[in-house]
Amino acid sequence: MADFIATANPGFAPFAMEELRRSFPGIQQSGLAPGETFKVSAGEASEEEWVALLKKKEPIFLRHVFPVGAEEPISDSQEETAAALARFASLVADKLKGKKVAVQVRKSPSSIFPFSSAEGRDAVAPVLRELGAEVTARDADWILSVYAAKRSLYLGLSRPDDNLSDWPGGAVRFRRDEGLVSRAAFKLLEAEKAFNLPLKSFMHALDLGAAPGGWTSVLLERGVKVTAVDPAEMDESLLLHPHLRHLRKNAAEVKFAPGSFDLLVCDMSWDPHHTCRIVSELAPALSAGASGIITLKLMYRKPMQTIQDLLAEYKKHFEIRKVKQLFHNREEVTIWVKRRP
Ligand SMILES: C[S@@+](CC[C@H](N)C(=O)[O-])C[C@H]1O[C@@H](n2cnc3c(N)ncnc32)[C@H](O)[C@@H]1O
Repeated sequence: MADFIATANPGFAPFAMEELRRSFPGIQQSGLAPGETFKVSAGEASEEEWVALLKKKEPIFLRHVFPVGAEEPISDSQEETAAALARFASLVADKLKGKKVAVQVRKSPSSIFPFSSAEGRDAVAPVLRELGAEVTARDADWILSVYAAKRSLYLGLSRPDDNLSDWPGGAVRFRRDEGLVSRAAFKLLEAEKAFNLPLKSFMHALDLGAAPGGWTSVLLERGVKVTAVDPAEMDESLLLHPHLRHLRKNAAEVKFAPGSFDLLVCDMSWDPHHTCRIVSELAPALSAGASGIITLKLMYRKPMQTIQDLLAEYKKHFEIRKVKQLFHNREEVTIWVKRRP
């Protein structure tokens, strides 16, 4: 029976658990860090079977998983903890020789684990090198995951792709570039990676709810022409950009010729049903097969129901490609849709 450590955005673990319960009725789940991290016992399924099923029907609110290869009692002694990490590395030694291994260490706030993440990595790195592995931060062949909970230390070895994200706990970090127009830009950068959708492949984007211009600035940097719609002002660093047209209007009032855009992005802070109506009305302005990246604001008490209702509406004009709560999403999820031909 396979066990996994699973992580969702703060406060959203109950929804990830509900999704998993619906998809895999036999599983058992228990909380480790409230609202965020939990343990899943995957019933009869083997680790490989469960990962395959999970990737086929990826839960919206599940950010990260790793399989538990060993569970040890938690200790506040650095010596004992380093020995537990070394024991696990030896257990999986045959997989490590000549391979690139990333070590990812996280702990629950209630854990007595005696290391910081960096110290935990430093404690196990020499052992991995001795076993013939190259210790790396990114582009690893294997990820050695460590999660320190209140009572247990969970350790696992898995392929980056099988964890749903190759970042520790799915916490995607971007370099904080000087002069970033808004933190919202991270959402689009993360969507580009998560949906494997290179933004530079688009010619002309319609950005609804664009101000102050974080998403617009990412698109302009990728060489995409942008028509930005927002009654609010755009950041002054963008105003003279030759590829930007800003319409200071409500998105409900704008009209465009058919097929004007091959990308629509929308991060409008409005009721998600209104947003859906506006995006649907503007669908003819998109070319056949055009993509849309839209944040769905979860302002109602039943997020799963809200998402289900909205997707049913979006499906009238769009094919739904992916629905995911990204690390940079707060009370929202991001969808990638394609305009039906
Ligand atoms: C979260 S901000 C968008 C941030 C933007 N994506 C960025 O990267 O800087 C939401 C924006 O939606 C705009 N908005 C809300 N309702 C709108 C509407 N009906 N039409 C156009 N823009 C709207 C607001 O003025 C606000 O600037």
